[in-house]
Amino acid sequence: MDSNWNQSPSTRMTRPDDLRDVTMPLILGIETSCDESAAAVVEGPDAVRSSIVATQHDLHERFAGVVPEIASRAHAARTLPVIDEAIREAGIELKDLDAVAVGHTPGLIGSLLVGVSTAKSLAWSLDIPIIGVHHLLAHLHAPALDDDPIEFPALSLIASGGHTALYRQMDSLSATRVGSTIDDAVGEAFDKAATMLDAGYPGGPAIERLAVSGDPNAIDLPIPKAGQNRCDFSYAGLKTALLYAVRGHPVGRGRAARFPRAVSELTHEARADLAASFQRCAIAALMRGVAAAATEGQFRSLCAGGGVLANSELRRQLGTFAESHGLKLRVPPLRYCVDNAAMIAGLAAIRLQAGLVDDLELQASPRQPIAPPVG
Ligand code: KG4
Ligand code: ZN
Repeated sequence: MDSNWNQSPSTRMTRPDDLRDVTMPLILGIETSCDESAAAVVEGPDAVRSSIVATQHDLHERFAGVVPEIASRAHAARTLPVIDEAIREAGIELKDLDAVAVGHTPGLIGSLLVGVSTAKSLAWSLDIPIIGVHHLLAHLHAPALDDDPIEFPALSLIASGGHTALYRQMDSLSATRVGSTIDDAVGEAFDKAATMLDAGYPGGPAIERLAVSGDPNAIDLPIPKAGQNRCDFSYAGLKTALLYAVRGHPVGRGRAARFPRAVSELTHEARADLAASFQRCAIAALMRGVAAAATEGQFRSLCAGGGVLANSELRRQLGTFAESHGLKLRVPPLRYCVDNAAMIAGLAAIRLQAGLVDDLELQASPRQPIAPPVG
């Protein structure tokens, strides 16, 4: 992933007379980057008036992972109904909106296109600005929803199904990456571990549930380390170590190689021990990165976002770390950890207040570095 700043070509500074009063704008957020179709209405940066999330877990469960084609078709069917519900629950009408915001990068391109096209149609028909929001920055804004603003500088951790990275943030609209995974994301590792242990779908919560009755020190798995950068992460090795611990070392070579046992031959206790041991190592690797990054600057807050922040053991360890390092811990409530549109609309209010809006040229992009807050 590229860490250079790169301004979205459609972003422009607004002239003051372009906008209505933007001190507390009412913004509709739309989020369709992966497997949740979400819409929300937020007033200003943090007052959530409604937040509706239609998850697609039922559609992807039998494939044990998100199937992009199925995800985009489901977004096409569900996005307008969730918008209707968000507007109704907020007690407003479409004409009351000051802007429409959409998560336009990163994500699955077919899924992003549904959200971006919907947002463009609404912005055009209501004659209001469209604001493209970077999904990862939105996750880092989530702790401010229904809560106080984040105090900067912040050391910020993203831990989700597609991303694992650490950033230094001086404000909500920008982030400088200090480390990231060199292979799998931590959420992806949780999802694969759940498949290996036949624990259920989605994987993260399933592993956490199974781990509750297990001994985290029962199995000697590696706490994975990346290469040169102390703030980088790596999860591929832990995943392979877990596979061998579950199924034994493969016997034979090449295509004839076979695992000596199936997961169905393990007792529930053995599977719980494996889940707890995996969770211990996956979280230890995250905490090691956080500890390394904390030495690389002066921070007031330890901020974190992304689906893996739903994990209570990770939240507990971040809390202990923040307290012992004099940092203010900012982790979103569970409803704003996983993908949602309130984080999109809330961050869009800060962009709007800074005069940063997009136009109908806004592009969906599967990956794009976080854009700097300049017009
Ligand atoms: O942020 P998110 O909703 O979507 C992405 O942008 O990727 O994160 C989803 C990820 C999945 O990998 C899921 O297994 C993980 O977050 N997750 C968890 C937990 N709840 C969700 N991982 C560990 N423990 C959990 N309780
Ligand atoms: Zn996400």
